[in-house]
Amino acid sequence: MREVAIIGAGLTKFGELWDKSFRDLFVEAGLKAIENAGVDHLDSMYVGTMSGGLFVGQEHIGSLMADYLGQTPIPATRVESACASSGVAFRMAFIEVASGLNDIVLAGGVEKMNDGADVTYALSTAADQEYEVYQGVTFPGLYAMIARAHMHHYGTTREQLAKVAVKNHYNGKRNPNAQFQMEVTVDQVLNSSMVADPLRLLDCSPVSDGASAVVLCPLDVAKKFTDTPVKVIGTGQASDSVALHSRDDLTYLAAVARSAEQAYKMAGVKPGDINVAEVHDCFTIAEICAMEALGFVERGQGGKAVDEGFNALDGKIPINTSGGLKSKGHPVGATGTAQIIEIFEQLCGTAGERQVKNARIGLAQNMGGSGGSSVVHIMEAVQ
Ligand code: COA
Repeated sequence: MREVAIIGAGLTKFGELWDKSFRDLFVEAGLKAIENAGVDHLDSMYVGTMSGGLFVGQEHIGSLMADYLGQTPIPATRVESACASSGVAFRMAFIEVASGLNDIVLAGGVEKMNDGADVTYALSTAADQEYEVYQGVTFPGLYAMIARAHMHHYGTTREQLAKVAVKNHYNGKRNPNAQFQMEVTVDQVLNSSMVADPLRLLDCSPVSDGASAVVLCPLDVAKKFTDTPVKVIGTGQASDSVALHSRDDLTYLAAVARSAEQAYKMAGVKPGDINVAEVHDCFTIAEICAMEALGFVERGQGGKAVDEGFNALDGKIPINTSGGLKSKGHPVGATGTAQIIEIFEQLCGTAGERQVKNARIGLAQNMGGSGGSSVVHIMEAVQ
């Protein structure tokens, strides 16, 4: 396998972007990534999107985006794995460059959720229709059950969940591309409107529009394009039951643990070697469960670690320095590569007010639904 590097990135602002269409968003992120990488062509591209069909009535997305990005006739592939779509798109691009099949490959993602679609219905198609959705449960309800189970088994408190939102909004305020650039307090989280007990409005990621893209190439030519390439040192992907009821333990994200084990093994690093991480905090409880499944803390100790500031910007492992899905926003198909872009910027030293000192190794974890799919990447700064 060849060694692979990220050489450029492009991100749109996340939010309610009424003046930009689905294709406008991807083209904006794609052109920024191509310009930032300084490449004069692409050999291939991957676009992650959860449900162009349900959100904006558009399928055949690979070719559409290649056309509007001015890249036809290169191979252009749409990738779907619910909210992990662009994390998996990135993995496909990595494999294509590592295999030697192609040299300059773009991976990105896009979602346009604020365009009149029934968003809760569209999102719920990533859960088990027959056994979950037909019974009336949607994603806030599924994660509420995970939160209840975590509180019951481990004594995790309502305040600990709130502190995840407070920390992510603190970081998001420092991210010019975030949807919600404001800080919130524990009291505000605890008094925000109830969505699915115990989860309240400020425990939830929002409904967002946005796109993200990165360009990959073989490491041995990366310095031709940039002084600060970032090497991809580990990748892992795994699946789990889509329905929660089939799992032995509601609080344990087995696909996250398995995808992380693969990525750590390939990278030759341990959880304690990670300097900065982006994890899939679609709801506050998800960040706590992800910290445990990634091996950052012992099983059941995520809530306590949040109390101790483990995941804060100046903590032992700063998590979701971008603001996470909670504050930066969660245009589902765009989230995976957006997380990778935050790690890319942290490792290049260009994260501004959010910069983690001496960040050398970073991790991005992106999952679909309530953890039915997960993909983990580990990246390292190149000196
Ligand atoms: N965090 C903070 N503020 C939020 C918010 C969020 N997640 N969602 C909405 N708001 C704000 C809006 O900006 C608006 O503020 P304003 O009155 O100052 O303009 C206000 O709350 C009401 O917004 P609205 O769009 O009417 O909210 P809603 O009740 O329709 O939707 C949720 C709120 C939580 C139900 C919705 O954001 C949601 O479904 N989130 C989860 C998305 C999801 O499941 N993703 C997939 C995960 S697997």
